Order: sequence, then structure tokens, then C-alpha cells
Amino acid sequence: MHDIDGSIMICSIQIFPSRILNRPSQPVTSFDDTLKKIVKDMIETMHAAPGVGLAAPQINVPKQIAIIEYQPKSEEEADRAKIPLTIIINPKIIHFSKDKDRLREGCLSIPGVELLVTRSKKIKLNAQSIDGQPFKIHASGFFARVIQHEIDHLNGILIIDEVKKR
Ligand code: NI
Repeated sequence: MHDIDGSIMICSIQIFPSRILNRPSQPVTSFDDTLKKIVKDMIETMHAAPGVGLAAPQINVPKQIAIIEYQPKSEEEADRAKIPLTIIINPKIIHFSKDKDRLREGCLSIPGVELLVTRSKKIKLNAQSIDGQPFKIHASGFFARVIQHEIDHLNGILIIDEVKKR
């Protein structure tokens, strides 16, 4: 799936009920060129889709890697703040606010489906950069929601499973 000459690839996105989408991903232990290539391919694939986030298992790579980027495009989306490209490796949410909201979400792996999902409005997480450096994110609103969605993917959880839980 990842070519050997180093050029960037748009990968096919795993679609429900692909089994890899329900399996927890493995932690990244080598912050090497292979990781950089996977992340580049993920960015290209997310832009092509287009999507606001992508998790590695969605391109058939069962590793704890997720990316998020959002640029409001229309007037109706203007209330959502821009999210610069954010790469999170081995992310772990360390705080979920008790304050939650319930909004519609879609997923590139479940085309044409939007479901109401309840999520914390604010979260704090620890993650690592593409070079393995640890960092923290304090996120709120739409950014917090997308992070929770992508980390669910890394735990083998889809929006249809979130809906079943509540
Ligand atoms: Ni998704």
C-alpha cells in the first residue's frame, strides 16, 4: 500500500464494516522515516477525501497516529475556528470535561451517515509529535470533538458504537 520510491500516495480509505476499524491500534515505537511516510500519505489522503481528520487504521495501518486539520469553507461553517494541521501520535486523553454536547458527526469510513454523538466539550491530552517529542493539547469545541472522534478510531470505536453506548 505504501510505495517504495518515497512519493506520496493517496490511500484508499477503509470502509465499514472493514474489520481493522474495530481493532485497537498499536503504539508507535519508532519515530523513523516509515512513520513520516505514513503521516505524509495520511495528510494527502485526508486532503483528497476531503476530511477534517484521519486515523491510521482508516488507511489500513493499525498504529496510534491521527491527523486533524480544518479550514472553514462556507459562511455557515465560519463559527468554527480554523484548526491548523495537528499530528498526534500515541495520544491519551487525560481529562474529559463533564460538560458535554450532542452534535451530528460524519466519518470518512461510513459514507453518507451522520449521527448524533455526545462528547465532552473540553479535553486535555498528552501525545507525541512526529519526532517523538511529548506535548499537551487543551482543546475545546469542534477541535475537542474531532480529537475524540479520531482517538476513538485508534481504540477501534466508530460513531455507530458511540451511539450504541448512550
Ligand atoms: Ni471517522
